[in-house]
Amino acid sequence: MLTLGVESSAHTFGVGIVDEGKVISNEKSMYRIGTTGMIPKKVAEFHVQNSSSVVTRALSKAGIRITDIEGIGYTKGPGIGNCLQVGQVVAKTLAQKLNVPIVPVNHGVGHIEIGRLQSGLEDPVVLYVSGGNSQILKMTKGQGKTKHYRVLGETFDIGIGNMLDNFARSIKLDPAWGSTVEKIAVGGKYIAMPYTVKGMDFSFTGLLTHSTKQVGAHSKEDICYSIQEASFSMLCEALERALLLTNSKELCVCGGVAQNARLKEMLSMIAEDHKAKIGYAANEFNADNGAMIAFVAERMIKGGSKAKLSECGIEQRYRIDRATVF
Ligand code: FE2
Repeated sequence: MLTLGVESSAHTFGVGIVDEGKVISNEKSMYRIGTTGMIPKKVAEFHVQNSSSVVTRALSKAGIRITDIEGIGYTKGPGIGNCLQVGQVVAKTLAQKLNVPIVPVNHGVGHIEIGRLQSGLEDPVVLYVSGGNSQILKMTKGQGKTKHYRVLGETFDIGIGNMLDNFARSIKLDPAWGSTVEKIAVGGKYIAMPYTVKGMDFSFTGLLTHSTKQVGAHSKEDICYSIQEASFSMLCEALERALLLTNSKELCVCGGVAQNARLKEMLSMIAEDHKAKIGYAANEFNADNGAMIAFVAERMIKGGSKAKLSECGIEQRYRIDRATVF
């Protein structure tokens, strides 16, 4: 079933096409973040300007025509309202024109489900770490044949990626991404940092405030190294509790921050200690992308889910534990 997915929750406008669970194209245009971060109105304008060309590229890469598409999915949330709106309008316009089913998809479910597929893990504890989200989850039974993700632990305030991006902006890194912090952290040494874990929950704002106050007193390398070590250790501690609580021997890591090499190294040690298999999606799918939305949409439509156009809205704070998984 040729299914097209549209992702536009933040800086990326992505369109992916999936056929029977297989990704056949995954194209995107990404807003250049520079040193200022994301200004919602500007990012949404960027998506409007690029949406048509990304759809065209995705179709051409897949070697199909638009009229071959049999189902549509789009990101309902969570995300930035102005940005989500653009993807929703594109998806609804296509669904109406082609007269095919359309389903709203939870962004986090997209990351996790494609991660689970690619890692080959059946029923893992999931660490989902991105700009807007930081959660530890496990799938649980829902109504009938459906399932949903239960949140075992999560951030009390901001996502870990948001924290790293925010710090990058405060020291004027260009681009102001966590990935730039990762590069600068190489060769740094540890300085004392705040550390906040409560059971399986954690908090990052104190760490962010403290780190920005260290600028000038310590080298950028040392602060970048320490902010990573402290925040990643917090995730690892909470994750160890989740592995013990669930007695799970599988760990799936997904989301934009899952691309960080130091985090991967620390998580591998945790997995080894707990004799758990660890798996990731390819980096292409840990970054925001349309293919993961198409992947989930295809399964939802096949599972009997179909929304009326009038029901296809957006929700900036669409929680993952409210989304049904087929
Ligand atoms: Fe994401």
